[in-house]
Amino acid sequence: MEIRFKDIGPESLKTDLLVVPVSEKRLEDTSIRALDRRLKGKLQERIQKSKFAGTEGASLLYSTAGVLPAANLLLIGLGKAADVDAEIWRRSGARARREATALGLEDIGFFFSPERDPAGAAAAIVEGALLASYQFTKYRSNAKNPLGIKTLTLHKPGLSRSSGMDQAVRITEQTVGAVFLARDLINEPPSVSTARYLGEQAERHCRGRGLSVDVWGKKKIESMKLAGLLAVNRGSQEEPRFITIHYKPAGKPRKKIALIGKGITFDSGGLSLKPSKSMETMKLDMAGGAAVIATMSRLPVLRPAVEVIGYIPTTDNLPGPNAQKPGDVIRYLNGKTIEVLNTDAEGRLILADALALAAKQKPDYMINLATLTGACMVALGTQVAGMFSNHHALAERVMRCAQESGEKLWQLPLVKEYREDIKSSVADIKNIGGGHGGAITAALILQEFVEEIPWAHLDIAGPAYTDRDIATCPKGGTGFGVRTLLRFLMTV
Ligand code: BES
Ligand code: MN
Ligand code: ZN
Repeated sequence: MEIRFKDIGPESLKTDLLVVPVSEKRLEDTSIRALDRRLKGKLQERIQKSKFAGTEGASLLYSTAGVLPAANLLLIGLGKAADVDAEIWRRSGARARREATALGLEDIGFFFSPERDPAGAAAAIVEGALLASYQFTKYRSNAKNPLGIKTLTLHKPGLSRSSGMDQAVRITEQTVGAVFLARDLINEPPSVSTARYLGEQAERHCRGRGLSVDVWGKKKIESMKLAGLLAVNRGSQEEPRFITIHYKPAGKPRKKIALIGKGITFDSGGLSLKPSKSMETMKLDMAGGAAVIATMSRLPVLRPAVEVIGYIPTTDNLPGPNAQKPGDVIRYLNGKTIEVLNTDAEGRLILADALALAAKQKPDYMINLATLTGACMVALGTQVAGMFSNHHALAERVMRCAQESGEKLWQLPLVKEYREDIKSSVADIKNIGGGHGGAITAALILQEFVEEIPWAHLDIAGPAYTDRDIATCPKGGTGFGVRTLLRFLMTV
């Protein structure tokens, strides 16, 4: 899809589908009036007859029958003018794209009239339109290639195409490319998307200036004493991998940042086996790792001025004959021991290795992403990720980046008192807490391995995967986290 900007009004643009966003109680706006005059009052007539009032999510399609240069007119409701933010623009871009695709049209003209931050609004519209085009069809025998949208023209009289706008759109295109890579990695069936496969994909996608990839096999993992990863891998036929991706900027790095992603390619629960219903979507359990690989893959193009090291411990979690057993104890490279009482609490076991290893490099910040707990979904639902942090300024920054990216994040507390719940009778700690606050006890276990380094943990169990089609993503992996991470790296 080619993105263009034009400095003309809606009544002069030649396009298949002219999209005019309208906020509530603004149906008398000059742009609508101008269109209505050209359409001899027929547009207002249609608006009056319909229930269209500009509420968010509403739309009205009108065929101009050749009266205007634009063949069709689509009014899109934005809701209350004062509430129009980047997310609303993003969704309107997505809706325009879906509507055009459904109508079999190739070209969208989006009349674009933001009251503030035109560059941000332009980028959000483009982002929505791009995100809405994702499909995962490689396993469908009858996949019709839907008519692609060829051009999206943003137009506005008096629009001066600033370099800020070009830059914002360019970053958006890269970001969406990364989101799609993460979605592809998650959606791939679990017997294809193994640890080995993830290593190969990291090598394939993370190339270019300043970027290098190192994939450790089982021997190296043994010699590095990554005991948690080896313990979880014991029940599997597949070898584990430990993927490290290193990005060095051209100049002296402003900061050093470690990104750690959980890479469980399939979570059966191990001997603490999950019921079959809970296993249906457990290919999603490498979504954190996918987000880190995808984020890193775009750094040579986006070129942030920070050094970034991505760590992805990866294996599946299966109950093979040699599987780890409830009651086993793992000894970690920082000397700490964990008693495994539930083999389904495996994410924390492999993340502990990665966090300990990352901490040894003394990064300025560590951020980990993991589909870690069902408890976090109980707390926040499927659209909001939980965030835990030991560092106020980092937490604020991550929250702001998420907010600006349109990814929902909510901070949960690291309740010191709950450390009582993870005390073990034989080891330093155990891998499960008491019955309550499971997202918090999981985070407390991770915290044991981050030393004093400023750290943020994103529990993305809810938003990593959508079980129905939404405006910006079809059912499946969402690529959650990529947008927040890239924004963080570009602005930190
Ligand atoms: N991968 C799961 C968490 C999960 C659940 C992610 C649902 C996405 C959707 C994780 O490994 C797990 O099984 N957690 C257990 C922990 C429990 C045994 C302490 C859980 O949440 O039930
Ligand atoms: Mn599990
Ligand atoms: Zn898991």
